[in-house]
Amino acid sequence: MTIYLNGEYMPIEEAKIPVLDRGFIFGDGVYEVIPVYSRNVFRLESHLRRLRHSLDGIRLINPHSDAEWTDIISELVKRNETQDQYLYLHITRGVAKRDHAFPSPPVKPTVFMMSNPLLAPPADLLKSGVGAVSAEDNRWLRCDIKAIALLPNVLLRQLAIDAGCAETILIRENEFMTEGAASNIFVVKNGKLLAPPKDNLMLPGITYDVVLEIAAANQIPHEVRRIAATEVFSADELLLTSSTKEVLPITTLDGKPVGNGKPGAMFTRLHNLYQEFKLTVMRAT
Ligand code: PDD
Repeated sequence: MTIYLNGEYMPIEEAKIPVLDRGFIFGDGVYEVIPVYSRNVFRLESHLRRLRHSLDGIRLINPHSDAEWTDIISELVKRNETQDQYLYLHITRGVAKRDHAFPSPPVKPTVFMMSNPLLAPPADLLKSGVGAVSAEDNRWLRCDIKAIALLPNVLLRQLAIDAGCAETILIRENEFMTEGAASNIFVVKNGKLLAPPKDNLMLPGITYDVVLEIAAANQIPHEVRRIAATEVFSADELLLTSSTKEVLPITTLDGKPVGNGKPGAMFTRLHNLYQEFKLTVMRAT
């Protein structure tokens, strides 16, 4: 596997960073995950926009222009083998003596990028759906920043794994749903697709945007608004979206069936439309 680190491409085994990197010491950095289909980068502009938002959010100057990012990304995609890949971009505030305050004068940010094969969710998972558990969203109040400091998300996701499930659905203040530990969550009730608003309490998902665009373009009833926890627990369907999982049906929540316990009509429709949409990207070159 070839990776990119601070201006150079190299085998992952050769990549080294100093232990005083602020990403290692403080989790002081941001990241992006970008899918690549048939060597075409999916929604690059949106991912680079979200990256800028994350960097602004932690007051770190963007180390590259969009044109430079595009060049590095194209080169990395070229140097890796599979047709479908997912790119992981990681930028930290760089290497400096340990001090919480930003290094002054600023130091060079660390820029790391790797590519892994992207595997579509297996057919049996799409047929059965996945299980989820619910938990209190105990993260900070800037979940719109794609921060590398993911300890809360790690602990929350592990609750799902410990229960034999795939994802944890996060509820704030016992009242409303925000997202999953590493995904966005949609609720379906009476044929309507409900999505929580993009605010500081959730990551503005690129897949989330695509799903809402698809819904609008295909006259699927949908509404973006705060979703009460009670609506999650009485949903007809629950859907999970992310760059690596695309759209997945959640068929159990806290051990109880969601709706009739099978992937529903909304999932099937959105999944098919999503696959069609991907094909337009794959035909891009
Ligand atoms: N995570 N919310 C959170 C907390 C996430 O970590 C993710 C994605 C999403 C979905 O965003 P998108 O559709 O842009 O992938 C929502 C990535 C895949 C990860 O951390 O690996």
